[in-house]
Amino acid sequence: MIIDIITIFPDFFTPFLETSMIRKALEKQYVKINIHNLRDHTTNKHKKIDDTPYGGGAGMLMTIQPFEAVISALKTKDSVVILLSPQGELLSQPKAIELATKTHIILLCGHYEGVDARIQAYIDMELSIGDYVLTGGEIPAMIVADAITRLIPGVLHEESAQADSLQNGLLKYPQYTKPEHYKGMAVPDVLLSGHHQQIESWRKQEQLRQTLVKRPDLLKKVKLDPESKTMLEAIKQQLKDK
Ligand SMILES: C[S@@+](CC[C@H](N)C(=O)[O-])C[C@H]1O[C@@H](n2cnc3c(N)ncnc32)[C@H](O)[C@@H]1O
Repeated sequence: MIIDIITIFPDFFTPFLETSMIRKALEKQYVKINIHNLRDHTTNKHKKIDDTPYGGGAGMLMTIQPFEAVISALKTKDSVVILLSPQGELLSQPKAIELATKTHIILLCGHYEGVDARIQAYIDMELSIGDYVLTGGEIPAMIVADAITRLIPGVLHEESAQADSLQNGLLKYPQYTKPEHYKGMAVPDVLLSGHHQQIESWRKQEQLRQTLVKRPDLLKKVKLDPESKTMLEAIKQQLKDK
């Protein structure tokens, strides 16, 4: 997998590429992440990449020419060209899973008032990281690259990614580590029992409980097996009886 990121602030990405899981994924060559300075692709002799919007209005708009130039230089038949934008499809775990199967992703970071609307002719999709507006596409690009990279087989322990929240449409069960007792709060007995089947059953039940309490909207979208449906009804009853 190759991820090309186009930005006017390449330095933003230095700590991102040199830290934690991304650094390891780069070292082990599960992914190659290239940062390109948009200014290197402008034909403007002053390296200007923005201008005032036609029709007036506040702020500056990024011009189309350098984006077109860098996309033409990088794009192949396998590329997915994505503009980070608050107007895009919301990033979700299913979207990250889909993107993790691609071989080449080009992420375009906007800034200022965004990019000349003719960028639409050169992109495959717009992607948003949430319903709020940020100053630039750099943090969204890091979020997208992180969400995708951790799903590439081998980057994490396979079970770790598979058991994450949202991977199967539900939130993850609560987890505990040492010490067994902390300020009057104990780790649930079942987790200390060594009984694998009971632990699995408890985790399934707690996944449903977490999702019901914190994100009930997710339960409308997920397809539950009959055992989970029964568990969910029992949890609802328990919560009512409380
Ligand atoms: C200040 S925003 C431009 C917003 C634009 N004027 C609008 O109203 O749609 C500048 C850039 O930040 C990035 N950006 C801001 N919020 C974002 C979000 N929620 N998701 C993805 N990218 C975002 C985009 O690349 C955008 O071009």
